[in-house]
Amino acid sequence: MSWQLRRAGIDDLDAIMQIETSVFTTDAWTSDAMRADLASAHCYYLVALGADDSPNSATIAGYAGLLAPRGAKEGDIQTIAVAPEARRHGLGRVLMTSLMNEARRRGAREIFLEVRADNPSAEALYASLGFDRLGVRPGYYQPDNVDAIVMRAAVSDSQTRWAGIGDPEEIES
Ligand SMILES: CC(C)(COP(=O)(O)OP(=O)(O)OC[C@H]1O[C@@H](n2cnc3c(N)ncnc32)[C@H](O)[C@@H]1OP(=O)(O)O)[C@@H](O)C(=O)NCCC(=O)NCCS
Repeated sequence: MSWQLRRAGIDDLDAIMQIETSVFTTDAWTSDAMRADLASAHCYYLVALGADDSPNSATIAGYAGLLAPRGAKEGDIQTIAVAPEARRHGLGRVLMTSLMNEARRRGAREIFLEVRADNPSAEALYASLGFDRLGVRPGYYQPDNVDAIVMRAAVSDSQTRWAGIGDPEEIES
């Protein structure tokens, strides 16, 4: 499988919310919260489309978002999701790598994220990208009352590239 990544905007809200509400059934973001992030200059969201899809396709394979005000030393991974049928083909990794590269470009030295304690797949992805466990926020995810694991990665000076997928920066518009 191969994809094209591009910067997301408000026009992608419906496609993003379609995955968001089906994947995060109990703790999905609201449409208003997602719209605010998509409109914010402090955020950087990407959507992934199939390699042969029109850039304006109404269907997306995944999305991911970063909060990293320019000049701030810290960035936060806000969200990431890949459609079930597109998983385990490297898309989550390339989305994360693209956000980490953008965080570095914006001046961040550290990136933080929270992951549900009952989500070992996502935690494995983050650990493979250099995120370490920093602590636990008990009952952070409601209404499920599931703990959040807080993770942190130091931003490296070198650009990360992923074999076989190409450099995402070259295919974002
Ligand atoms: C987490 C998620 C984004 C990963 O996307 P993906 O495209 O399947 O991830 P990749 O194919 O790039 O996998 C990268 C690595 O993540 C880990 N991983 C991903 N899915 C996994 C699974 N089901 N079991 C174990 N490890 C898994 C592996 O380390 C994998 O590397 P490998 O394939 O070389 O073993 C995807 O599973 C998803 O959307 N889940 C639901 C939403 C979610 O949990 N988001 C995170 C909220 S914090």
